[in-house]
Amino acid sequence: MRRRLYPQVGAASHSHCRTSKMKTITRLLILFLSVSGICVFWGEEVLQYVLPQQQRSCACDRCLFENDTLAIQNISRFPQPLLSRKYNLSEEDFNWWKRLQPGGGSISDYRKKIEKVFQLIPDNPPLEASSPGYCRTCAVVGNSRNLLKSHYGPLIDFQDYVIRINRGRSKGFEADVGNRTTHHVMYLESASQLDNTTRPVLFTFKMRDLEWITRVLSTQPSGKKSLFNKDLAMVLNPAFMRNIHQVWLQKKGAYASTGFMALALALHICDEVHVFGFGADSDGNWSHYWDKVPNKKIKTGGHPGKVEYEMIEELASHQVLKFYKGW
Ligand code: C5P
Repeated sequence: MRRRLYPQVGAASHSHCRTSKMKTITRLLILFLSVSGICVFWGEEVLQYVLPQQQRSCACDRCLFENDTLAIQNISRFPQPLLSRKYNLSEEDFNWWKRLQPGGGSISDYRKKIEKVFQLIPDNPPLEASSPGYCRTCAVVGNSRNLLKSHYGPLIDFQDYVIRINRGRSKGFEADVGNRTTHHVMYLESASQLDNTTRPVLFTFKMRDLEWITRVLSTQPSGKKSLFNKDLAMVLNPAFMRNIHQVWLQKKGAYASTGFMALALALHICDEVHVFGFGADSDGNWSHYWDKVPNKKIKTGGHPGKVEYEMIEELASHQVLKFYKGW
């Protein structure tokens, strides 16, 4: 009997032990799930108080303007780079913009023309916001001849956004300049057929440019391919152009080059910016990578080419961007 009793007592205590073990595991599981739930829902708020020094604006090794000197921090505060329908351009900014190229016009004309443009393109430019969990990288590709034999193509294509400028093209130069283009920034005289998936970023310098946009986008002959995808089109803000010229370039030259403004735009839409294809030759010629021979006739003109180059070097020395000077 005893012998039979022992195993019974043993079984009861074993099952009791098992039940309490299960309870402990269940409690631990509930505790674990509650803690994870709190972390998921309140993680950011909790970290704000617990670990302020570890907050990041992006997930790159280093985010733009992070831990830098005050001088560089100041230039990071610019007006919104891309226009939206509701953006209220000040008279001061308008007057600066109006004088860039001949054409004149009043601010009310300007507002009417912009209203027409926004009847054809999206109201708010589709931009991806920065987030602590993501690293948005940009390649800005200028048109300098220093790209030839550089073999930068794969590095350029590796970035999330590849921004090309004016007449910059890939065909025949893929090894040096890459072949992806996510954004193509241009002054309108240089506009040519873009891929349907490329975002056109339009730089306007005069009233006629606004009329050009409306004309090109509203009269699309059937059967003819449109110049670019209007649903992806964006227009640069004149206030942003003025800020780049006055604050970044200290009013040197007439106004910044399209390439330099594209670079400033990249600093706004990306967390890490890689810059390629900038730099005149030693005589100050702005020849292009597709020119058969260096073009000695293109000087940097009204644009302060040397100042822009030095500014890019300075931004690189502060690790705001990475500058690839070519071959
Ligand atoms: O010549 P283009 O203006 O189309 O070139 C695009 C941009 O590339 C320029 O606005 C300028 O910022 C940059 N560039 C340069 N050095 C060159 C050619 C172009 O820095 N030799």
